Amino acid sequence: MLEDRKILIGKSTKPDYLLLTLANRHGLVTGATGTGKTVTLQVLAEGFSNAGVPVFAADIKGDLSGVAQAGEGKEVFRKRAKEVGIEYQPDRFPVVFWDVFGEAGHPIRATVSEIGPLLLARLLELNDVQEGILNIAFRVADDNQLPVIDLKDLRALLNFVAENDKAIGAKYGNIAKASVGAMQRQLLMLENQGADTFLGEPALDLRDFMRTDRDGRGVINILAADKLMAKPRLYSSFLLWMLSELFETLPEVGDLEKPKLVFFFDEAHLLFNDAPKPLIDAVERVVRLIRSKGVGVYFVTQNPLDVPQTILAQLGNRVQHALRAFTPRDQKAVRAAAETFRQNPAFDTAKLIMELGVGEALVSTLDERGTPSMVERTLIAPPSARVGPLTEAERKQVMAQSPLRGKYDQPFDSESAYEMLAKRKQMAEAPAEAAQASGGLGGFLGSVLEQVTGGGGQKPAGKGGGRQRMSTTEVVIRSAATSMARTVGTQVGRAILRNVLGSIVKGR
Ligand SMILES: Nc1ncnc2c1ncn2[C@@H]1O[C@H](COP(=O)(O)OP(=O)(O)OP(=O)(O)O)[C@@H](O)[C@H]1O
Ligand SMILES: [Mg+2]
Repeated sequence: MLEDRKILIGKSTKPDYLLLTLANRHGLVTGATGTGKTVTLQVLAEGFSNAGVPVFAADIKGDLSGVAQAGEGKEVFRKRAKEVGIEYQPDRFPVVFWDVFGEAGHPIRATVSEIGPLLLARLLELNDVQEGILNIAFRVADDNQLPVIDLKDLRALLNFVAENDKAIGAKYGNIAKASVGAMQRQLLMLENQGADTFLGEPALDLRDFMRTDRDGRGVINILAADKLMAKPRLYSSFLLWMLSELFETLPEVGDLEKPKLVFFFDEAHLLFNDAPKPLIDAVERVVRLIRSKGVGVYFVTQNPLDVPQTILAQLGNRVQHALRAFTPRDQKAVRAAAETFRQNPAFDTAKLIMELGVGEALVSTLDERGTPSMVERTLIAPPSARVGPLTEAERKQVMAQSPLRGKYDQPFDSESAYEMLAKRKQMAEAPAEAAQASGGLGGFLGSVLEQVTGGGGQKPAGKGGGRQRMSTTEVVIRSAATSMARTVGTQVGRAILRNVLGSIVKGR
């Protein structure tokens, strides 16, 4: 619910609000299972949408999807509205569904070069030697303007590196062929996990997350994450990539009237489980700095202890639902959670955490001066949209009406490393014929590649992908317009991104 520049969270001894000007100072929603975290997330998402702030949220159980349909006015929510002192008003919100696997929403794709060697190394679980080779492969691609878009390109690139190990090794550093073989097998595993739909084109333009509808309401972008969750490394790498990409692409804006985008990071413990210190440090840095780009990050997890201390300190707006404390370790967690709040003399915070009812929480938000408000015992407001999942038919309907329909749904396969390297081999075997077939592009590439290898015939790598091939003209136009231009034009940007991700992912 939206009031003047603030979102109503619920009511304690007074109405409790989240101030939009401080919503980019991040937040945390915690609580044991079934205590009301997802509903709270929905209340916040609805509030942001009403305020014209787009939202991105991962939907772990599918139960956030209901926000696209008007609420059914269930008795619990009508009752809650009365308790909070508002009128229950059913409403629905503009939703765009996304799905890394391209089934329950628009496919989300990133190119391999956008993901960068360091996140890829983490995804592929590479050892140091292999990671070194991957870095060399990326530099070879950069120096020769070979766009590395999909896994097929990466495979071709690795083959190319292995086959030219002497020449490349002399320039960039030692290449162990056996390690490349192991990397190819890891690639195959990643492919089997379905990552091949995720890596490719058309790649996501993050501005498509920052849309408002005709009424000026922020679009709620919902990532279907039920399947993705089964692959925690893919899930966490993916969300991490999105965060870094936002960080890289958005300009510095300082303090805004309201955030440009709010990002909900559900099951946040997955990001921090077994995370080495350098990774945590880097996430801490991105979280701290992304705030001045107008992005608010809200972590959702069971226990505040799931979030490392340095990051916890960055999360200004807190909603703590009930925690259970059966074991001494649980009790310690409850005490730790209680200690993160500015105490209220009216009650014993630690004791109360265990007594909170469903949809009730301890709430502390940042006030106008940016200091945390005294913790309050708050009844969370009811959402206006449906609580619970959409039916299959309803979801299909939302997808069919998406403003982004058609933009991402068809993959395309433009001229990139795989094709370029294959063409090069073709040229070496029948130069005149190949140059003609490629409309002259081959000649250009040939000379580019000679800089690395000093000429000589190379074998083409891997088999063709399953995607539709484009005509030569299309390939030339597309590659000129997208891949080539982008790779060349954003090379500096990519280098920075890799540095950020580098520090995020280093020291696995
Ligand atoms: N603000 C609220 N007002 C009234 N009822 C609520 C409220 N929040 C939650 N509930 C009730 O509690 C149920 C469970 O809430 P919710 O799904 O948000 O829990 P959760 O903490 O996300 O659980 P899990 O950890 O299993 O995902 C809701 O379906 C609803 O019936
Ligand atoms: Mg939930």
